[in-house]
Amino acid sequence: MKIITVAHQMGGVVKTTLTLNLAASLKNGGLKVALLDIDLQGSLAGISDELEDIAFIQPDELSNIGTLPYDVLIIDTPPYLINSLNDLFAISDYVLIPSKVGFFDVMAIRATLAIIREAQKSRPDLKYGVVLNMLKSCTSITDDIRYILESYEAYVLKTVILERVSYTRSSITNGVFSTEDVKAHHEIIARTNEILDELNAQERQLQKHNITPINLKGLQIRLKLKKQKYLCKRLFQ
Ligand SMILES: Nc1ncnc2c1ncn2[C@@H]1O[C@H](COP(=O)(O)OP(=O)(O)OP(=O)(O)O)[C@@H](O)[C@H]1O
Ligand SMILES: [Mg+2]
Repeated sequence: MKIITVAHQMGGVVKTTLTLNLAASLKNGGLKVALLDIDLQGSLAGISDELEDIAFIQPDELSNIGTLPYDVLIIDTPPYLINSLNDLFAISDYVLIPSKVGFFDVMAIRATLAIIREAQKSRPDLKYGVVLNMLKSCTSITDDIRYILESYEAYVLKTVILERVSYTRSSITNGVFSTEDVKAHHEIIARTNEILDELNAQERQLQKHNITPINLKGLQIRLKLKKQKYLCKRLFQ
């Protein structure tokens, strides 16, 4: 099972919306997906009954992660730094840091990056990616934002997500895939692919060192989504 933790100390930077849509996208790719909401606001927990074919687990189940019958677990976290982030990062395969492209939002990434870099000392294979959300247009990343990201040496995913009503409605529609917004479908699939690519690269690295067997399911879903990836590329050319 792969564990993806979604974290950023700022509020309203799309952690929960991203968690929900990433889960829907991985489920569509044929994976068994579970969610864990450790945010006391309980946004995801509140809609857990509505989520079709996506399981919802409780924090105490983390003590048995080795036995959970899922391919991917996505953990949504609250908008402040919690002590347990260190422990969560230590068990995660991938940390996603969603951010809006505002000055303060991007500056706040630094604290989360510091915890990741600390975790990477004992866990060098831990991957992460900063994901930029709610852009007004494909070109609305300003030079000062680029400068901050570069100065933090932050790895930023290529796929950006624009501001769209379909994401705002995500909590009612259980993700964008049940809406007609094809551009949003493409954005989420492209982003999912980037994360899968990273996880597959990590898996190959681990396999090279004979640490765990290769994740064939991850590769399968990657092939399945290859065509959609091509469409997404065209969308952003
Ligand atoms: N791409 C988007 N376009 C337009 N609205 C969006 C987009 N993504 C998210 N939203 C809206 O922005 C708001 C904040 O998103 P969300 O709740 O996912 O953030 P969060 O980081 O989980 O917040 P919190 O820190 O409070 O948990 C929500 O109302 C959501 O519907
Ligand atoms: Mg949230």
